[in-house]
Amino acid sequence: MTQADYDLVIRGGTVATAADTVACDVGIRDGRVVALAEGLGPGAQEIDAAGKLVLPGGVDSHCHIDQPSSMGATTADDFRSGSISAACGGTTCIIPFAAQHRGQSLRAVVEDYHGRARGKAVIDYAFHLIVSDPTEQVLGQELPALIKDGYTSFKIYMTYDALKLGDRQVLDVLAAARREGAMVMVHAENHDVIAWLTERLIGAGRSAPQFHAVAHAAQAEREATHRAITLAEIVDLPILIVHVSARAAMEEIRAAKARGLRLYAETCPQYLFLTAADLDREGFEGAKYVCSPPPRDAANQEHVWRGLESGVFDVFSSDHAPYRYDDPEGKQMHGKGAPFNRIANGVPGLEIRLPMLFSAGVGTGRISLNRFVDLCCTRPAKLYGLYPRKGSIAVGGDADIAIWDPERRVTISRDMLHDNLDYTPYEGHVVTGWPVTTLSRGTVVWDDGAVLGEPGRGEFLRCDLPAAAHPLGRRVHGFAPESGDYDAPWLGESET
Ligand code: URP
Ligand code: ZN
Ligand code: ZN
Repeated sequence: MTQADYDLVIRGGTVATAADTVACDVGIRDGRVVALAEGLGPGAQEIDAAGKLVLPGGVDSHCHIDQPSSMGATTADDFRSGSISAACGGTTCIIPFAAQHRGQSLRAVVEDYHGRARGKAVIDYAFHLIVSDPTEQVLGQELPALIKDGYTSFKIYMTYDALKLGDRQVLDVLAAARREGAMVMVHAENHDVIAWLTERLIGAGRSAPQFHAVAHAAQAEREATHRAITLAEIVDLPILIVHVSARAAMEEIRAAKARGLRLYAETCPQYLFLTAADLDREGFEGAKYVCSPPPRDAANQEHVWRGLESGVFDVFSSDHAPYRYDDPEGKQMHGKGAPFNRIANGVPGLEIRLPMLFSAGVGTGRISLNRFVDLCCTRPAKLYGLYPRKGSIAVGGDADIAIWDPERRVTISRDMLHDNLDYTPYEGHVVTGWPVTTLSRGTVVWDDGAVLGEPGRGEFLRCDLPAAAHPLGRRVHGFAPESGDYDAPWLGESET
């Protein structure tokens, strides 16, 4: 009997990373990639990938799993269904949130989320934190300790009653992140504008789901995006603006990037494949599409596409925030016909994120295969401190791989998906290209329609400090860059 050189060889496929596309085999040992070459020796197990694309497993850096929402509903997926759904769509690493509610200790929140994940995930996961109560204790003690323990990114909100931070609090959080080297993700919508519009719309009897998109105006997103960038500039900290939906906010991001700020931006499937018209569907059906920011119009969709092509966007995440439709704990927590401001915000997307962008982006030539890999796998891993372990196919990295049939035509329907929802917003969308086999650390977890990953095999990942979050070292307001003097006592730093 021939001795196997590898535990597994993926043979004869086309391997694509963010940088290159190469025809070669992939040799895997002990869960890691150990060889990339043509004609590798035998593996104990072999996968014939002729005619297939061999891509890094997706890194979905924005998803809400088993998270009680600030509005009272609980997301429908736990770590079992959520991670299975991700794996079946070619994703091998998820970064959901450990969400602090006001008054809670961040450390206790993190312990709670570990309990939610334990024994359930089929793929690896890390956690972002959500900071909604930035007390001195949280910023001075808990956050620094948690960052050292591998929770190196956190999200803050400029809207939602229970989560929003005022500008002073945002500055406090950004300054703490700067001290520790963490990445801050910002939900940028102007709370007062939304509240003011909501009050008037509902007062005028315009409470149907479609008016959610009116209340969450693109101008409110633009203003908050501008403000978040301004606050980040004052603290000299790179930030990441999440779920950007519209041209207006993109203009702020593009302008800031053009003037040399280090700034990152994310968009999501709902801004490419849904529009505000979906919120105007028959009866209460529009509730299925309520998310924040909301999907906009076709012109904005086109701008988001251009942003993916041109580099305004760095990452493409799902913002999977799943609430069942026909469920008193989901979209109908306040009944069928509830006013739009009482409908749980969020749409699912873990499983369709990659196939939909692959089909409409790579399949049509709008983005290259390498750009697709960068947006969905490599950049998120880099931005959140998981690279090079995750996010690429490289010697030494985890063998987290999705093998794609680029010709497979799939009509997306509720029944074929593996999340715990009772609908998909993308019912009837036809895509070409689907991940047929997914490997997590060299173990096949999804193959030819069968879920093979054992719940509990997924491991928690400690994130490194992301290099992308390093300050530029710019002198901030009032200090001349050319003088070389650096005096920023408001950051606790002072140098000459
Ligand atoms: O509507 C959305 N996006 N819900 C999820 C929570 C968030 O703000 O990302
Ligand atoms: Zn958000
Ligand atoms: Zn979200």
